[in-house]
Amino acid sequence: MTAILEIQQLAKKSWNKGNQETSYLFAEVSAEIQQPERISVIGASGQGKSTLLRTMALLETPDKGDMLYEGVSYLKKESRLWRKQICYVAQQAVMLPGSVEDNLRTTSRLHGGTYDEKLAAQLLEEAAMDGLDRNKNASELSGGEKQRIALIRSLLLRPSVLLLDEVTASLDSISARAVEQLLVRWHKEEGATIIWVTHDLEQAARTSDRTWFMSSGTLLENQRTTDFFRQPTTEAGRDFIRLLVSGEKL
Ligand SMILES: Nc1ncnc2c1ncn2[C@@H]1O[C@H](COP(=O)(O)OP(=O)(O)OP(=O)(O)O)[C@@H](O)[C@H]1O
Ligand SMILES: [Mg+2]
Repeated sequence: MTAILEIQQLAKKSWNKGNQETSYLFAEVSAEIQQPERISVIGASGQGKSTLLRTMALLETPDKGDMLYEGVSYLKKESRLWRKQICYVAQQAVMLPGSVEDNLRTTSRLHGGTYDEKLAAQLLEEAAMDGLDRNKNASELSGGEKQRIALIRSLLLRPSVLLLDEVTASLDSISARAVEQLLVRWHKEEGATIIWVTHDLEQAARTSDRTWFMSSGTLLENQRTTDFFRQPTTEAGRDFIRLLVSGEKL
């Protein structure tokens, strides 16, 4: 069976200057996604989780390794088409000029699709934003509102793989739960793979089937979520869970 997405020995060079030897922010990152999955990506700050997702979305270029979407290397695919299937949603949402409505419409248009107004309205409602005035200038939205609009903008493109970077980080717990439920439903009904960076371990446990743990400059663990939280296989994984559970900051 061809994997939906396969990452082979992916590496990204570190910006760190000063030492002559090339060092890597991460290296030898390999993973295979055989069927639509919900994956949480966890790990301490600065491990390269965002950079890994940005690289997977081709917003950064890999320095080594390959990525295959349905068996085809990113090198053989037009990057515009790659980004249409594998979509990154940033933590710091950037709004396009114009109103909320413009933001929702423009992204579909830019990607050559048609704007599904009914779906947009449904997603706004599910994300607890049905009361939002869509004529409002997008730059005037709160951080949490921008985050949800950016997410909905991406969902409207119906990508096969959604790369979500702490997308509920600026939300109150009720809105965060609403977005979680929306994404769980989306995964189930649309068959989309969701790869989700979060610092909230309870959220990771609630929403994912599989957990990627980034540490020591690589994807150190790739396990079923229940197995990872019960019994990480590495010392770093055990330390990470222990520190977080004891409330210490990483
Ligand atoms: N090539 C590179 N691309 C991106 N960041 C790099 C690179 N080389 C070194 N860095 C540094 O490595 C760190 C990577 O940050 P990144 O945002 O990917 O981590 P993160 O795991 O998402 O952290 P956080 O949990 O705080 O969001 C930053 O400190 C950045 O300055
Ligand atoms: Mg990050």
